[in-house]
Amino acid sequence: MIELKNVCKTYETGNKAIRNINLRIRDGEFVFIVGKSGSGKSTLFKLLTRELKATSGEIMVNGCDLGRIKRRNIPKYRRTLGVVFQDFRLLYDRNVFENVAFAQRVIGASNSEIKKNVPEMLKLTGLGAKYKAYPNHLSGGEQQRVAIARALINHPQVLLADEPTGNLDSYNTHEIMKLLETVNSMGTTVIVITHSKEMVDEMKKRVITMDKGLIVSDETPEGKSLSVMTVRGGNASGKGRSRKRPEISVENTDYWPDTNEAETDDSEKHYQEERRYENRPDSRGSGKRRHR
Ligand SMILES: Nc1ncnc2c1ncn2[C@@H]1O[C@H](COP(=O)(O)OP(=O)(O)OP(=O)(O)O)[C@@H](O)[C@H]1O
Ligand SMILES: [Mg+2]
Repeated sequence: MIELKNVCKTYETGNKAIRNINLRIRDGEFVFIVGKSGSGKSTLFKLLTRELKATSGEIMVNGCDLGRIKRRNIPKYRRTLGVVFQDFRLLYDRNVFENVAFAQRVIGASNSEIKKNVPEMLKLTGLGAKYKAYPNHLSGGEQQRVAIARALINHPQVLLADEPTGNLDSYNTHEIMKLLETVNSMGTTVIVITHSKEMVDEMKKRVITMDKGLIVSDETPEGKSLSVMTVRGGNASGKGRSRKRPEISVENTDYWPDTNEAETDDSEKHYQEERRYENRPDSRGSGKRRHR
């Protein structure tokens, strides 16, 4: 279960990227997050991966309180997530097998586990025949499949994808979405940020729409509206907006960004440090560096 209560994120620049979000995503759901550029989708994604810390409010992911989690436990938390990006972020000096195996090596899996698990995952993602290929010799759709295989190899509870089909043509977009649907049918919660209206219409899943840092609609696959935060005195479309701070029609209105804007957020730095740690030559490793 993922639950956000009165979540706000204000960047150090003063930009209020997330203005007040309340949201619940149950285990096993498939959810699309859509919205215009700059509406706060990637910021929400980074809050869920704890790359960023909320300025205020509460984020609980599978019982883990992301506002209170100790830094040393953040890597452990992230292992409960699979993460996929628009630009794939593969290791370009390693073949398909090693890209997926890498995620297993990071958690200390044995060579025999890796030899069993990786081929299974490559089969699921339709890459069985490509295990020796290097990413540069793969199509965009194939590269994204490798990224998905890597994200899934440690059996995360939640798969988070930020525009996973942003660099793909409509055929590959369709194929990747179908793969995500398969993954979801096997029990993983799937959250996909996308600009692909065509896919959203075709897939018939829950759709959360963001605008200017707020959720402005939340619809079930049947097209039923789930209740969303209503803002009095102005709305996310900007119509009728007053200069006054809008009143939020929920019980707890303590969590406004203005209340603790001075908070410094160094979680991003720690995330980078952790990435550097993960990218170091591993104990069984080849000594090669991770390329981005
Ligand atoms: N590191 C940052 N520092 C300051 N402001 C930021 C930062 N990252 C994003 N923003 C701002 O926060 C707002 C939300 O950005 P975000 O990246 O979450 O949007 P998005 O919905 O993912 O957009 P897109 O569809 O273009 O990817 C925007 O106004 C953006 O300019
Ligand atoms: Mg984005």
